Amino acid sequence: MRIVEDPKELLAADLAGSAFVPTMGALHDGHGSLVKRAREGGRPIVVSIFVNPTQFGPNEDYARYPRTLEADCALLEPLGAAAVFLPSVETMYPEGLAAAMEAAGDPSRTPLPAVAREPRLEDACRPGHFGGVALVVGRLFDLVQPSAAFFGEKDYQQLRLIENMVEADRARYGALRVVPCPTIRESNGLAMSSRNRYLAPDQRELALGLSRALQVAHSAQRVETAERLMRDTLDAHGLETEYAVVRDARSLMPVAGFERPTRALIAARLGATRLIDNAPMTVWR
Ligand code: PAF
Repeated sequence: MRIVEDPKELLAADLAGSAFVPTMGALHDGHGSLVKRAREGGRPIVVSIFVNPTQFGPNEDYARYPRTLEADCALLEPLGAAAVFLPSVETMYPEGLAAAMEAAGDPSRTPLPAVAREPRLEDACRPGHFGGVALVVGRLFDLVQPSAAFFGEKDYQQLRLIENMVEADRARYGALRVVPCPTIRESNGLAMSSRNRYLAPDQRELALGLSRALQVAHSAQRVETAERLMRDTLDAHGLETEYAVVRDARSLMPVAGFERPTRALIAARLGATRLIDNAPMTVWR
């Protein structure tokens, strides 16, 4: 497995057209499942690790975000990754970080699809976040030139952003395929996340409130009932709800019923840690 810092090396190593798994490191089995899915196409696999400063708000966890490069490489090597791409901030943002932050927040330079502007979910709770994601992912695609890129449904709103972004700019991204991959959970239901490392053992129990809320909502016959059941379950676990909603699975906009595919989406706080989860509501009728 190659460790690549200079993007020119990726192209020289004939890794263009790869199966690409962009990450911020602190890898877990959820990331492992993306790599396994990427392996199915038989293309060389490139995994990027870059803790992207432009997608963190000023009061968020950029500085303390876990950086575990050795363990990350130990997880990737046996999975058959051809290369780990470790770009520097200078490689990703040659214009300088302050200018990049500005570009991320400027819709004329980093246009965001409606799905990342209108739902008033992550877009409202983390202003500037999706601009930073769109900027870095677009640039990673430019540098790596993959034929397919793999994203977890754990970050469902991010996935919809990337799908729309690529679809809206085929001139830039060519035939790139964005491949959604299912959320991987611990046996108790907790969705795997790099941020779970922040949780103390007693908080891990409380964090189960998210997956339990999704489970109880699943059988609800009405949208309002599902949303109330989710909020009640989060409350009962001492979680502070940011949102717990049922939305159209494609547009992420509010729905009145289950006529079309819908998705339940939750963000909640447990002390200083912010957790998200989501699941399809399979009962559309
Ligand atoms: O999902 C993530 O880990 C990040 O948001 C991504 C897609 C690697 C962009 O920094």
